[in-house]
Amino acid sequence: MNINYDIEKVLVTEEKLAETVKRIASEIDRDYAKTGHKLLLLGILKGSVVFMGDLMKCLSIPVEIDFMKVSSYGRSTISSGTVNIILDLHRKDLSDLDILVIEDIIDSGRTLSYLCEYLKLKGAHSVKTCTLLDKPSRREVTFTPDYVGLEIPDEFVVGYGLDYAEQYRTLPYVGILKPGVYGK
Ligand code: IMP
Ligand code: MG
Repeated sequence: MNINYDIEKVLVTEEKLAETVKRIASEIDRDYAKTGHKLLLLGILKGSVVFMGDLMKCLSIPVEIDFMKVSSYGRSTISSGTVNIILDLHRKDLSDLDILVIEDIIDSGRTLSYLCEYLKLKGAHSVKTCTLLDKPSRREVTFTPDYVGLEIPDEFVVGYGLDYAEQYRTLPYVGILKPGVYGK
């Protein structure tokens, strides 16, 4: 068994990912250098784990990290259209926090637009979003992230944290699966 054999095409190489992560980190370092508030990197489990791990190592400014988990696609590649919070942010007072939500990919836009509203309602000083990948052609709600790694076409991708049916998250690159893999 070698998971690399299930990949039809590498869409984003390890080198391109490393370069992209460094570029986003320098933008975050620049933008949050003098805010006067605590910066919280809020990773959305589980897809953002690899991206967030690499990103936070490239930052120079002080940050705290935390995680939330929301419902995702399950076994299918089609969005359910509803967002459920499975693991919440257990902090009493968010008013001193600049929150930067870290996502692996934006598709319909539902997850992040919901989460931003939720965190603002809970009183965060500011809420911005950062995604490694964006599929703008798939939007179902109007949503524009503040930091974007790469825009990609309407393809279902895996690797670098992204899964299909909980597999392939460990690949060091982002790739497209062979059509025969679906429904295995
Ligand atoms: P949205 O709420 O439709 O924007 O969906 C975002 C979530 O869907 C992401 O956090 C991923 O978990 C999942 N997702 C969307 N597209 C892909 C993909 O191509 N591969 C793997 N997961 C995806
Ligand atoms: Mg996700």
